[in-house]
Amino acid sequence: MQRKHFLQWAGLTLGGAVVGVGLSACGGGDIAEEAIPMKSGTMLSEHEIEGLYFMREEEKLAHDVYVALFARWGSKVFNNIAQSERQHTEAVRLRILAHGLADPAANTPAGVFMNAELQALYNQLVAQGQGSLIDALKVGCLIEEKDIRDIEDQKSLVLNEPDILAVYDNLLCGSRNHLRAFNQQLVAQGGSYAAQVISQAEWNAIANSAQERCGG
Ligand SMILES: [Fe+2]
Repeated sequence: MQRKHFLQWAGLTLGGAVVGVGLSACGGGDIAEEAIPMKSGTMLSEHEIEGLYFMREEEKLAHDVYVALFARWGSKVFNNIAQSERQHTEAVRLRILAHGLADPAANTPAGVFMNAELQALYNQLVAQGQGSLIDALKVGCLIEEKDIRDIEDQKSLVLNEPDILAVYDNLLCGSRNHLRAFNQQLVAQGGSYAAQVISQAEWNAIANSAQERCGG
């Protein structure tokens, strides 16, 4: 379903320049055959475009959820990390524009998403964070581990676009720091978290290591 939106966005941007947009499922078919010629002369595959659209909205989701949870609990960690998520979603937006594409979040207010999966997740996570501060901090932990998995997945689909890879690496670094921050606050509140998306070993390795200085 998201795919339809993505293709609509791509078509909207490229207009008559669209040549041979592949319709095979992500993960199947020849990526090279699905490449879309861009006005700028660069080529992004359908997977790369979908990845940018998804990450633009997933980073916006993190921002919007944390803003909502800060309003509910007043815990500074949500406000601080929301500022960082604003920079993350902006970084992806700039890559989208740089490649001549339309921003899927150009006209969506807080809490509204073009991607139906992310819309449902937003609704679920904001509701999940209302019961207690510990519940809200666990929502932060979940968003960050999902973010890490999704960015890694998107990175694996980027063929030869150093600018996009650099942004994804920066997002990954930030997400690891956010995971550490939420986990610390959770432990300080007497809570604990079991990994749900990445492996527990990967969770432990990140949570128990020092904050990083993220470039870019
Ligand atoms: Fe984050």
